[in-house]
Amino acid sequence: MAQIQYQFNKNDEYFTPAYAVYPIVKRLKAGSRVWCPFDTKDSEFVKVFVQQGFDVVYGHIRTGQDFFRVRVPECNYIVSNPPYSLKNEVLKKLYEIGRPFAMLVNFQGIFDSRERFQMFKEHKVEMLWLSPRVNYMRESKTFLKGVPFQSGYICSGICKKQLEFEYLVKQ
Ligand SMILES: C[S@@+](CC[C@H](N)C(=O)[O-])C[C@H]1O[C@@H](n2cnc3c(N)ncnc32)[C@H](O)[C@@H]1O
Repeated sequence: MAQIQYQFNKNDEYFTPAYAVYPIVKRLKAGSRVWCPFDTKDSEFVKVFVQQGFDVVYGHIRTGQDFFRVRVPECNYIVSNPPYSLKNEVLKKLYEIGRPFAMLVNFQGIFDSRERFQMFKEHKVEMLWLSPRVNYMRESKTFLKGVPFQSGYICSGICKKQLEFEYLVKQ
């Protein structure tokens, strides 16, 4: 795979609230090892997984762990909310790694890209739809106004059915 050069993109800096992590928690084997590759210690993915008894490995570009270059840690699952500007590259790399994964992404236009269409055609894929829409946070943990798009988890090897649905309990 060609090397991806990291470029700061403010559209990538949206953070996941804890309530959006729970639908994945219940689909993972208790006590297993989860890698969160776009996350710092302050990520709600990291906090919820640790609190729920998972063995969590995490990393972020800012702390020197570039997802595209870092050695893939031993793990049972890869779960996060990836940088939106690198959605295709992230999915491609995840399928190359070959571990079960769940990535929280904007579902609008998810099948529009020819590259993604081909990837999903060739590989195992599941969609976990969430309702109501996830309201993302700024890094300061304050919520953004409005929820302009429907997001959910694109998974591989996580869900029993190819299409699953989950209500969110917003605190
Ligand atoms: C959409 S945010 C989500 C952050 C966190 N996963 C969450 O949900 O709260 C994606 C994050 O990935 C970081 N990032 C971008 N490129 C990366 C890379 N190559 N490796 C690791 N992290 C990266 C961005 O700086 C951004 O903070």
